[in-house]
Amino acid sequence: MSEDTAAPAATPSSGGGSTPVESSRERAYAALERARRRTMALTDCLDEAELTAQHSKLMSPLAWDLAHVGNQEDFWLLREAGGQQGVRPDLDEVYDAFRTPRADRPTLPMLSPDAAREYIAEVRARAVEVIAAASGKSGPLFEDDFVFGMVAQHEQQHDETMLATHQLRRGPAVLDAPDPPAPMSRGTDATHGEVHVPAGPFTMGTSTEPWALDNERPAHTVEVAAFDLDAVPVTNGAYLRFIEDGGYEDPRWWHPDGWAQVQRANLSAPLFWKRDGGNWQRRRFGYTERVPPGEPVMHVCWYEADAYARWAGRRLPTEAEWEKAARHDPETGESRRYPWGDAEPAEGHANLGQQHLRPAPAGAYPAGAAPCGARQMIGDVWEWTSSDFTGYPGFAPFPYREYSEVFFGTEYKVLRGGSFGTDEVACRGTFRNWDLPVRRQIFAGFRTARSSGGER
Ligand code: AVJ
Ligand code: FE
Repeated sequence: MSEDTAAPAATPSSGGGSTPVESSRERAYAALERARRRTMALTDCLDEAELTAQHSKLMSPLAWDLAHVGNQEDFWLLREAGGQQGVRPDLDEVYDAFRTPRADRPTLPMLSPDAAREYIAEVRARAVEVIAAASGKSGPLFEDDFVFGMVAQHEQQHDETMLATHQLRRGPAVLDAPDPPAPMSRGTDATHGEVHVPAGPFTMGTSTEPWALDNERPAHTVEVAAFDLDAVPVTNGAYLRFIEDGGYEDPRWWHPDGWAQVQRANLSAPLFWKRDGGNWQRRRFGYTERVPPGEPVMHVCWYEADAYARWAGRRLPTEAEWEKAARHDPETGESRRYPWGDAEPAEGHANLGQQHLRPAPAGAYPAGAAPCGARQMIGDVWEWTSSDFTGYPGFAPFPYREYSEVFFGTEYKVLRGGSFGTDEVACRGTFRNWDLPVRRQIFAGFRTARSSGGER
């Protein structure tokens, strides 16, 4: 359903008409199952030593994520939703960074990978019974089966984090997937021009999307001045021109903190890139390959995206601009759930869910285009926006402050749209991600914008 359009509560996914009607209960089972299959696939391919190793200072050992998703499910589904004792409440101290202050955490050892597998399987078996018994329950956690959707989103978010850990890991490849579809026109590093979004108000955020998280709420009207936006994400080929033009050596293009970061971290190209004579190579899930010029650039931090945009005579879009381009339908004046409409993502719409282990070339997924013509707003790469992560007017933390509210402020920048590693349950037109402006390990790229005045 579109924002502010009444729809029967039992048919949350029926808006587009092309997907079968599915109850929120069925959707919850399916989402939890899909998340668990992915969690197991990401961990069953590595031995105990690899699962307990810390592959990067930025990441937890994979065995920590493995038990953490089960511990969150233990807390939210068994204890909070189910009113039970839970399987291992004692593990909160190891696996919940927030509920127990660091100083109070005893030096409990992490579960071994096998013990973690056993733990999360037992939690899941009991959680399935809680879901089955949830029909009569009321309260905000149970509305549209929200809490089950929330736990599925949480596991999928950690699955994407675990995929990023796989990318950081050194050693032979253990993951494989077919390549995503090519664009209709065989673009190399061709730019695809820009799209125009006229001035006017639009509805940002949502009050009706059943599994939208607290930071996406409530729906509110935002005035947005006219702007132009890249029709596709910035490609490796375009980014290479910035590198070859000396972009990393010229403080003119950089935010002062970004320039300091260039010096401190010795930045000269996206993470995982290496110059090999005249060619650029990149490491991708254990393989080394030529950097494909037509693919969206990724593994750049906010400062690099910001500097590229300034070099190009442009700027990053604000979060509101990004969402208006992705969701606003000028015909109806309403905001869509996704760029292509209200139907759940289908195969031709977007590169989501780790179906592929790379973004699709710029210009792919014509069926996923937004009303303004922008392509690949959903999937492929997360897109940095210029905006700080803050609460919308009327924000209320739910069900816990530590999901979003504690990160509000000027420290974190918002990313939108999801990546090839984002599952559809954790990705929609309103979904908000955030990270520090120095971070490069996430599957993040960007597109650029410019203000374009009212007339055209
Ligand atoms: C929304 C991706 C920033 O991984 O830090 C997982 C999601 N929150 N467990 C994160 C999250 C708690 C969060 N991000
Ligand atoms: Fe978590």
